[in-house]
Amino acid sequence: MEQKRRIGILTSGGDCPGLNAAIRASAKLAIASGYDVIGIIRGWQGLLGAKSNIMLLDNINTSNIIDRGGTILSTSRTSPFDTEDGPQQVLHSVERLRLEGLIVLGGDGTLNCSYDMWQMGLPIIGIPKTIDNDVRGTEYCIGFQTAVQVATDALDRLRSTAASHHRVMILEVMGRNAGWIATYAGMANGADFILIPEIPMDDKKIEKLIQMLVDRGKRGISFSIIVVAEGTIIDGKKYNYNTEGKTSSLGGVGRFIAEIISERTDFNTRFSALGYVQRGGTPVAYDRSLATHFGVRAIELALKGKYGRLVALKDNKVTDVPLEHVRGGIRPVDLTIYRAAERFFG
Ligand code: F6P
Repeated sequence: MEQKRRIGILTSGGDCPGLNAAIRASAKLAIASGYDVIGIIRGWQGLLGAKSNIMLLDNINTSNIIDRGGTILSTSRTSPFDTEDGPQQVLHSVERLRLEGLIVLGGDGTLNCSYDMWQMGLPIIGIPKTIDNDVRGTEYCIGFQTAVQVATDALDRLRSTAASHHRVMILEVMGRNAGWIATYAGMANGADFILIPEIPMDDKKIEKLIQMLVDRGKRGISFSIIVVAEGTIIDGKKYNYNTEGKTSSLGGVGRFIAEIISERTDFNTRFSALGYVQRGGTPVAYDRSLATHFGVRAIELALKGKYGRLVALKDNKVTDVPLEHVRGGIRPVDLTIYRAAERFFG
């Protein structure tokens, strides 16, 4: 009897809203197209070792998940390249599972690793997802719009309490290497200042920021909103939470800015960090549609045997580009967007 075609799907790296919508779309379309669909549990980790960690995706377990945050497949930050024979183990697992190819949902790190695996002979189609929105080769990644909405809602809430108490309110948002969330949420909120990794800060620039706050005060405006991306560089340094040598995560730069403003001015200053709230929960409609369209495109590519591709948004249209386009580092914020937001600073 002829065996059915088999395709695998995995999610790797930090989770984000919209992953399940993409899994649902890819799995349902693949099943309808005659595939058996194998979900790999916990990203690449599920393909390492002698026994793979997998689940069969069907029309029941991929139903009723379009609006669910996180990923039903679980995720991890494990890379096959963490161990010497990791890539070989992945190749063996894919062969043993008889997978024709793999759909990999990942951010910058995962997709670069996918490119390396593709070079080693693994048929891969990448789908970009990360709230950081910093993957090269695409205009938007799954999860970004939801994070921007959550951050904007938070800023709107902070604005009302800042205004009531006549305070300078600082919100730190995610963005390890790129300030996309800070730029878009700050612009949507009409923030008075936005700090991003792409524009390193030093004492002179901090003084300018403080002068802007003073000038606002002189104009009779008694509160200000500042958005800081966690990866903002000050005097050549990024800020880390000390987690006693376990895992370290970026953060603390917002508090640092708040302390400087408090030291150097009479402003009543407060700091909040949005943290993982912006990465969890229900995806906004845009992310669900983008994820669905990306998921469909991935299976259309697989059906044509077109591997080594990245599903992408280009000129606001869903398309695909060579996976190689993810190479060369992250995609920084387009500064023309930042400059538009900057016009409303102060
Ligand atoms: O998903 C991207 C991101 O949220 C970054 O902005 C952040 O620095 C990082 O992931 C933190 O994630 P984790 O603590 O899961 O490694």
